[in-house]
Amino acid sequence: MSEIREVLLKWFDVRSDLWVTDSYYRSKVVNNSVYTLQDFAVLEYVKNKYGSGTKICEPGCGYGQLSILLAQNGYDVTGVEGAQWRFDGAQFLQKHVPVVAGKLSFVHGFYPTACTCRYDLIVCQNMVNTGWSDWLVANQLSSAVLAPSIILDARTWGIHRSDPHEVVQQFIDNDYTVFHVGGTVYEFHLQS
Ligand SMILES: C[S@@+](CC[C@H](N)C(=O)[O-])C[C@H]1O[C@@H](n2cnc3c(N)ncnc32)[C@H](O)[C@@H]1O
Repeated sequence: MSEIREVLLKWFDVRSDLWVTDSYYRSKVVNNSVYTLQDFAVLEYVKNKYGSGTKICEPGCGYGQLSILLAQNGYDVTGVEGAQWRFDGAQFLQKHVPVVAGKLSFVHGFYPTACTCRYDLIVCQNMVNTGWSDWLVANQLSSAVLAPSIILDARTWGIHRSDPHEVVQQFIDNDYTVFHVGGTVYEFHLQS
């Protein structure tokens, strides 16, 4: 786990401008918290429920640390990232950490339009607070087109920090079955 922090430090050597501007990831490095407890809760949940080879998409993957963790655990993962510098960082990380060839790819573009195939599962952590997240607000439930299930943190889904109960209720109102992952993270599965 510390390995990914070392690689992020190398990335910030290469892009020292980002050490100043990318405070989100700088604080992850400084606080030694590249992975959150929620990331590990998601990994454990996915491992208990989904077999290796499951096709997972992670929109708003940032530097891709969760995508990498899932790929290292046998899943076929596509990380989608709209910000060029974060996409570049994700590719840098991919090159410098051990991931089985073919298990991980990163796409530069905006979810959901950048997604061109169907997945078994969408996993989304912390897409809040970016100007681009209005895609999510407008297309909150369009994930159904892309996968039957989505795992997300109901607190950080949308353009503003959300009331988790409202987010959960919205999915229930749209025929999703809800499974608790941990904290405010849930899996929403579209009833067929
Ligand atoms: C707060 S960061 C979190 C990154 C990562 N998920 C994490 O938890 O560390 C949110 C990321 O989502 C990306 N993003 C937001 N809306 C997006 C969209 N519609 N498509 C692709 N990326 C998006 C932003 O560019 C940003 O890198």
